[in-house]
Amino acid sequence: MGKNLNAELLARDHRHLVHSLHSEKTHLDGKVWVKGEGCELIDADGQRFIDAMSGLWNVTLGYSQPTLVAAAAAQMGTLAYASGYAGSSNLQAMALGERLAGLTYPNINRFFFTSGGGESTDSVIKTARYYWKALGQPGKIKTISQLGGYHGTTLAAMCATGLPAYWPSFEPRMPGFVHIPNYDPYRYAVPPGQDPATAAANELERAILAEGPDTVALFLVEPVCGGGAYVPPSGYFKRVREICDKYQVLLAADETITGFGRTGRMFALDHWGVQPDLMQFAKGITSGYVPLGGIGLSDQIADVFDRAGSDPWMHCYTYSGHPVTCAVALAAIDVIEQEQLVQAAEVNGERFLADLRAALGQHVHVGDVRGLGLMAAVELVEDKASKSSFAASRKIGPAVIAEARRRGLVTRGRGDTIYLGPALVMQEPMLKRVVEIIAESVHSVLATSRH
Ligand SMILES: Cc1ncc(COP(=O)(O)O)c(C=O)c1O
Repeated sequence: MGKNLNAELLARDHRHLVHSLHSEKTHLDGKVWVKGEGCELIDADGQRFIDAMSGLWNVTLGYSQPTLVAAAAAQMGTLAYASGYAGSSNLQAMALGERLAGLTYPNINRFFFTSGGGESTDSVIKTARYYWKALGQPGKIKTISQLGGYHGTTLAAMCATGLPAYWPSFEPRMPGFVHIPNYDPYRYAVPPGQDPATAAANELERAILAEGPDTVALFLVEPVCGGGAYVPPSGYFKRVREICDKYQVLLAADETITGFGRTGRMFALDHWGVQPDLMQFAKGITSGYVPLGGIGLSDQIADVFDRAGSDPWMHCYTYSGHPVTCAVALAAIDVIEQEQLVQAAEVNGERFLADLRAALGQHVHVGDVRGLGLMAAVELVEDKASKSSFAASRKIGPAVIAEARRRGLVTRGRGDTIYLGPALVMQEPMLKRVVEIIAESVHSVLATSRH
């Protein structure tokens, strides 16, 4: 592959494709990937990069898992597709449901499959509304979620997503969506004398009371926020569970990123001993090899589905329970279990975070280094004492990411926060190299402030 082929291909790409988060400028400075090997990506010019984000947090098993490929091929050769509409099923979807019942929270034993995270968000919101209507409470329709939370960009998911940059081009948003402050331990302003976990959780109670408990269907929340790797203060989810129970609000955990081992637990609310009423997953369930997501229903919600009588649940996707995606998911779960990758994420994640903190914690512009398992973020600030951000026009975060790419590492971020989400199979030497490259890149962009 010749040099500059990448640039030529990007120009070709641009003529006929529109991309997610379409931006001409970002795109023409981009990469066309032609191969993945282990935890590395190779571009059209033959250059090799460490993938420090495992794709978009999803390629948790790396790019070289032959059993996933074989599972897909075998299933395509046997039954390439089967409708998942009521009255039609397939063995792989059933086996996956059985497997998930043993892996997810004890109270979650029934599953509906989608093709990704955003469809799962819509499915969770609609399920919550359906549940309350079935119980004779049709006024309970509102979704409360967090500012800073991300739940996807289908119209309902976009309304739940708490990142205002996603809204203006598509306003008006749907009614029935309310946002509360994030638990972000770095920036949440804890009222004097209060416990941070309780104060942040009580934001939910305040919102439920302001809206009226009879109008609120669910609280939708990421156990660890992907957009910044915010880890809740311990005690947050216990208090959230109490509040949801008190006001009859369903607790829905969006485990699109955190599911299947990323945080060092198979599912992240296990860190705090809390069970949700609804959960959603995607990404790591197939290590990104094929698109699959889904939602899990508590026994209580499943019971309402079973008792609903003759009224069908008018919600469906052509690819729900697709046998090929379910076969790949089963193979991925085998790899996660056989290679003990949940434990690996916990152990390697602790060391990775400690190394990041050692390399960057003292830097005058590194405000916070945080994470859980193999989910981490480095937040850069202009002034550490006041936590004030750099002017957005300085584009410090993008400059650090560009420096890292020059050094052979790809990752993502938002504003001046750099995300790191290595594959669960990444070994220690490469994890150490990730830390080195990120530290070098921060020092290079913020050279004058080097400590
Ligand atoms: C927590 C969370 N929810 C939902 C989504 C949306 O998933 P998708 O892009 O598959 O629609 C994402 C994607 O990054 C996510 O991180």
